Amino acid sequence: MTFKEQFFSITAILAFLAILSFAYFSFQINWPPMPALGGSNPTPVAAAPPAPELTAQQKAGEKLFKAYCGACHKMDRLVVGPPLAGIGQKYASEKAWLFDWIRDSQKLVKEGDSKAVALFEEYGGAIMLANPNLTDEDIEAILAFTG
Ligand code: HEC
Repeated sequence: MTFKEQFFSITAILAFLAILSFAYFSFQINWPPMPALGGSNPTPVAAAPPAPELTAQQKAGEKLFKAYCGACHKMDRLVVGPPLAGIGQKYASEKAWLFDWIRDSQKLVKEGDSKAVALFEEYGGAIMLANPNLTDEDIEAILAFTG
């Protein structure tokens, strides 16, 4: 290997190491796993109450919720659309309507469905995107997750 080649391979290795350590520190990659920083005698933190176990259906619903609803809805507060915690309960006696709404709320609004129009107006005419591809099973899963 000539001196020039050696010089370049050493430079390449150094650059690689620099990039690695930059990634390590700036993105807080925890590898190899490092113990948390802190005093030698950290105050004990009360253990968080165990999260309730989700059923398989609720877990599937959570995924669908994040993928299809989460951009506009949170469980507990208004974002673009209203909070959805307990939404299945709210419409327990109007499930068919709720499924239609979730699949295409604007269709109901355009048809002049009074409940749909009232909701649409209540939220300032914000448009909820249609979800025509969600199956009954998908919507059941979402509602199992929201309650
Ligand atoms: C692009 C934003 C957006 C997305 C995505 C969205 N929504 Fe909505 N949603 C809204 C808005 C805005 C309203 C309020 C009514 C209106 O303006 O049409 C609403 C209202 C609702 C309501 C009526 C709430 C009530 O209090 O009666 C339900 C139920 C609902 N959405 C379910 C869902 C579900 C389930 C999904 C995912 C499959 C979803 N939405 C995805 C924006 C969205």
